[in-house]
Amino acid sequence: MANVGIVQMALLLCFSTTALSMKYDVPRFRHRGSISASWTLINQLNGTSHYCLQDRMDFKFPEEIKLQKFRKEGAILVIHEMLNQTFDLFNRNFSSTGWNETIIEKLFEELSWQMDHLEPARREIMKEKKFTLKENITQEHLKEYYSRIEDYLEDKSYSRCAWIVVRGHILKNFSVLYKLTDFVFKN
Ligand SMILES: *[C@@H]1O[C@H](CO)[C@@H](O)[C@H](O)[C@H]1NC(C)=O
Ligand SMILES: *[C@@H]1O[C@H](CO)[C@@H](O)[C@H](O)[C@H]1NC(C)=O
Ligand SMILES: *[C@@H]1O[C@H](CO)[C@@H](O)[C@H](O)[C@H]1NC(C)=O
Ligand SMILES: *[C@@H]1O[C@H](CO)[C@@H](O)[C@H](O)[C@H]1NC(C)=O
Ligand SMILES: *[C@@H]1O[C@H](CO)[C@@H](O)[C@H](O)[C@H]1NC(C)=O
Ligand SMILES: *[C@@H]1O[C@H](CO)[C@@H](O)[C@H](O)[C@H]1NC(C)=O
Repeated sequence: MANVGIVQMALLLCFSTTALSMKYDVPRFRHRGSISASWTLINQLNGTSHYCLQDRMDFKFPEEIKLQKFRKEGAILVIHEMLNQTFDLFNRNFSSTGWNETIIEKLFEELSWQMDHLEPARREIMKEKKFTLKENITQEHLKEYYSRIEDYLEDKSYSRCAWIVVRGHILKNFSVLYKLTDFVFKN
């Protein structure tokens, strides 16, 4: 019995230090490399938008993410949410675009790798409610941003132009991923 207690204690300790120790888990350059690889893959999907001007749209990226001074916990939640939503977006019907499936598969591998490495910290933050009200609201705003994008794609019946517009937005917003990744994994 006593031994079981010690094992549980050890497990608890492991869990409670995950968020702090994760920066030693995988070096920053590996995370940065994966973000950069994801950007490059999305950039390779063909599509210039000068034919699609009439489909331009402002999805209203939550401004506070650009201005906010993050805590590590809040930054981890935002990064994870953006990766997750980007994955789910490109999992939708893009048959109108002629995009190369191999590139999309590689993109999914990169995004999954990053999410897997953030997952233990994210789970701990959620389980132990280590987020502030402000961070929770930011998460809600982020979810709303992506659901506006999803509604738009649906309204436009997943047309080629709609996808090209969305792809452009997703590429631009990688600047946030770079910034927050550098912050979380600074070592
Ligand atoms: C993203 O998160 C949602 C809700 O938590 C989940 O259902 C979905 O499977 C996740 N997607 C990926 C690619 O992990
Ligand atoms: C995907 O979208 C195309 C039009 O872009 C449509 O013809 C096709 O039926 C859709 N496929 C699915 C599975 O919804
Ligand atoms: C994108 O490239 C693929 C193959 O490289 C091609 O089949 C497809 O037609 C291209 N789509 C557009 C819109 O140019
Ligand atoms: C898709 O991309 C892969 C890897 O970049 C490449 O090897 C393949 O030839 C491409 N397929 C088409 C149809 O362009
Ligand atoms: C906000 O916090 C509640 C718990 O207080 C949680 O259930 C919800 O998932 C959080 N929202 C997001 C977007 O993380
Ligand atoms: C995200 O993309 C939108 C354009 O789609 C832009 O208005 C917004 O400023 C971008 N946010 C960041 C932080 O790059």
